[in-house]
Amino acid sequence: MSFTTSRQYPATRMRRMRRDDFSRRLMREHTLTAADLIWPVFVVEGEGQREAVPSMPGVERLSLDLLIEEAREAHALGIPVMALFPVVDPALKSELAEEAYSAGGLVQRSVRALKAAVPGLGIMTDVALDPYTSHGQDGILDADGYVQNDRTVETLLKQALSHAEAGADIVAPSDMMDGRIGAIRQVLEQEQLHNTRIMAYSAKYASRYYGPFRDAVGSAANLGRADKATYQMDPANGDEALQEVALDLAEGADMVMVKPGMPYLDVVRRIKEELRVPTFAYQVSGEYAMHMAAFDNGWLDADSVMLESLTCFKRAGADGILTYFAKRAARLLAD
Ligand code: PBG
Repeated sequence: MSFTTSRQYPATRMRRMRRDDFSRRLMREHTLTAADLIWPVFVVEGEGQREAVPSMPGVERLSLDLLIEEAREAHALGIPVMALFPVVDPALKSELAEEAYSAGGLVQRSVRALKAAVPGLGIMTDVALDPYTSHGQDGILDADGYVQNDRTVETLLKQALSHAEAGADIVAPSDMMDGRIGAIRQVLEQEQLHNTRIMAYSAKYASRYYGPFRDAVGSAANLGRADKATYQMDPANGDEALQEVALDLAEGADMVMVKPGMPYLDVVRRIKEELRVPTFAYQVSGEYAMHMAAFDNGWLDADSVMLESLTCFKRAGADGILTYFAKRAARLLAD
């Protein structure tokens, strides 16, 4: 019996297609492009202001003049949307978050200026009260410290409307109050703002991965040791995310979001498979911080790990990713 005839050859060799770059490219299922990225940014009052966020190395809070320069670059790189988050002066924070809907507020002014300077760049705003409340919660509290749903929605309506009137292309409610998408949609329609898109933070979990973001916007100290478990979702739940998404779609959301991102990719996949709607995921501040800690220590290779993490969102079914890496990734993708 000769050696060769007794040999069992594999019927299928998976490595055949992996052998060369051309065949790897040919069978590639998902491709990350700059068009998949939404870039979250932090805006502060003033001029020429550039403040580092210690728990988010490489991320800066910028005053509007500097942010406009960044917006031009992001647009030139092909990033479709920038998501604005304000750093609100502590003197303007209050129990009822009135500053949230001030027509002359930092967000409203920033939207106007950004749309005037870079009209082709989509501007998305965060609809939630936490940057404006003295207690750091996303809503208005009752005497027991419980976030009141319907009372909060009334304020969110004014906030969303003020953003849309300033020219926001997408309003993104991240507050997790019940019924807010429907209420916001009705108000926008009534005010003839038919084309303002709503990206609903539908499956937003009560996550501790948001810590660095709360440092960045300066709500961490206000919130103290409190959590957001009475309105954000329990990280142990998956089915509930589908119900949240279904409700937001029925209420008029154009796009839905899962947040955080990497530990929740199964939720992204289920939403995309079961509902087949525009689905986004947020690689949040804590995920960014973990990556940067490893990059800065030389433990992980920055460029390749960054692109791998973002490509995996696409494989999971995300149509786009909110990521603090957006600009860096878009630059790499352009090369
Ligand atoms: C505000 C809001 C948060 C984030 C986005 N919008 C924080 C929170 O809910 O406490 C988190 C973003 C991040 O961690 O990168 N409602």
